[in-house]
Amino acid sequence: MATKIAITNAKGGVGKTTTALNIADALMYIGYKVLFIDLDPQANSTSVYEGSISRRPGEKTLLNVMEKKNSLSECIEHTAFGDIVPGDPKLADQDAVYTTKIGGTNIVKNALKEVDGLYDFVVMDTPPNIGAYMRNAIYAADGCICPVLPKKFAIDGLNQLLDTIKSIKDDGNQNLKIYGILLTIYDKRNSQDRALKEQLPVFGKELGFHVFKTPIRTCQDVEKALAECKSLFRTKGNSNGAMDYAALVQELLEVL
Ligand SMILES: Nc1ncnc2c1ncn2[C@@H]1O[C@H](COP(=O)(O)OP(=O)(O)OP(=O)(O)O)[C@@H](O)[C@H]1O
Ligand SMILES: [Mg+2]
Repeated sequence: MATKIAITNAKGGVGKTTTALNIADALMYIGYKVLFIDLDPQANSTSVYEGSISRRPGEKTLLNVMEKKNSLSECIEHTAFGDIVPGDPKLADQDAVYTTKIGGTNIVKNALKEVDGLYDFVVMDTPPNIGAYMRNAIYAADGCICPVLPKKFAIDGLNQLLDTIKSIKDDGNQNLKIYGILLTIYDKRNSQDRALKEQLPVFGKELGFHVFKTPIRTCQDVEKALAECKSLFRTKGNSNGAMDYAALVQELLEVL
């Protein structure tokens, strides 16, 4: 059975997409079979997998899965980057529909059963809001990773983030684990970043959550690889970003 990981935080711009893409990339680089699911209507991950900024019309996406028009396996796109169920901007209009519909937040979980034996990992990117798609990811996941920025407001918001995940978990996925909080876009030259890096594990101990030992440093190669829709591990394997994500994945495999 595949281990299903949701990368989630209701805050925007914290490195969810970057983390989801690089965890998937690192796992594939090691040799695992990975399926990526883009649950964010912004479809940023999808554009990286597809190597383009716009989707060709008529292709099957997560929308087809949500509408139950196609099975999940029929919506998997096999790209040079890897296998993906593409996100779809049209999903944005349907959020309220699936939030209120009975079973609307369990669609991905149920659809995934069909391909469970075919992959080692399923990595899910989620949108920056607590809506139907974040819920679908959390209901389908074995565990989640929460990227946070080393900024005061981000750390202040951690309680709220964990409460949100716990309430969603109580509603629909009792077994969900919080694999850990991940510090992203970390600049060690910035004293504020360094101070928060020290505080976070202390805070984690108090609240009972794991903080990954590896912060992801600010790294131009990370941004560049995504902008060029290239695998960081295959193009800039010696960069700080690749080393940090590789260390994170090792830590994750130990947690698992
Ligand atoms: N380690 C890094 N070094 C440099 N830039 C980074 C790093 N990680 C992420 N970024 C940049 O930060 C920005 C936000 O990252 P990303 O899109 O992954 O966040 P997100 O949480 O998915 O955002 P959203 O909530 O809008 O989906 C992007 O421009 C990305 O290229
Ligand atoms: Mg994103």
